[in-house]
Amino acid sequence: MHIPTDIGRSRTVHCLTACLISCCAIRCGAGDGHTLDERGRPFERPFVEGLGSRYGSAALEPNYESIALSFLEPLCADCHGGGAPSAGLDLTFARAFQEMVGVPSLQRPDLALVEPSAPDDSYLIIKLEGGDDMVGRRMPRGRPARTPDEIDVVRVWIADGARRN
Ligand code: HEC
Repeated sequence: MHIPTDIGRSRTVHCLTACLISCCAIRCGAGDGHTLDERGRPFERPFVEGLGSRYGSAALEPNYESIALSFLEPLCADCHGGGAPSAGLDLTFARAFQEMVGVPSLQRPDLALVEPSAPDDSYLIIKLEGGDDMVGRRMPRGRPARTPDEIDVVRVWIADGARRN
């Protein structure tokens, strides 16, 4: 009788441990945004990590969807969104492409916000890098500058033609 009791107890302990591990895995997976993106898809190998956005440490890749969802929306759309976006520029996912690509800047009407295939001539890049030839402040306004690696991802997207997908 002694042995079966012990086995029963150790099974209970095993079961509890397994439950704890799996509960934790489910909670972590659902809650911290590191394993799944906001559409429930698993993140691939991240290009740039640690954006600290509301989407978690989302991958930043040189395509519109990634840049809009993991960079522009979380870092810019609180000002550049809503009913009266700053500088009349809406950088939400639904609007940012048509607001930027081939559209003259308000501050530097001689430059497009995004000039396809020409990142150096794109006012978006000038405002992110804080170049001498910009009007107003470096973006994101009042917040730390973005890293050269992050800005390079945006540069690559523009250099590749700034396509919608
Ligand atoms: C705290 C509010 C705030 C945040 C956050 C912010 N902006 Fe701005 N943005 C402004 C304001 C205000 C202006 C106009 C004054 C200036 O340029 O300093 C502006 C102007 C701009 C312009 C010039 C628009 C034009 O047509 O000439 C660009 C481009 C821009 N922002 C991009 C961004 C990007 C990209 C981000 C995120 C990485 C960002 N901004 C984050 C407030 C903000």
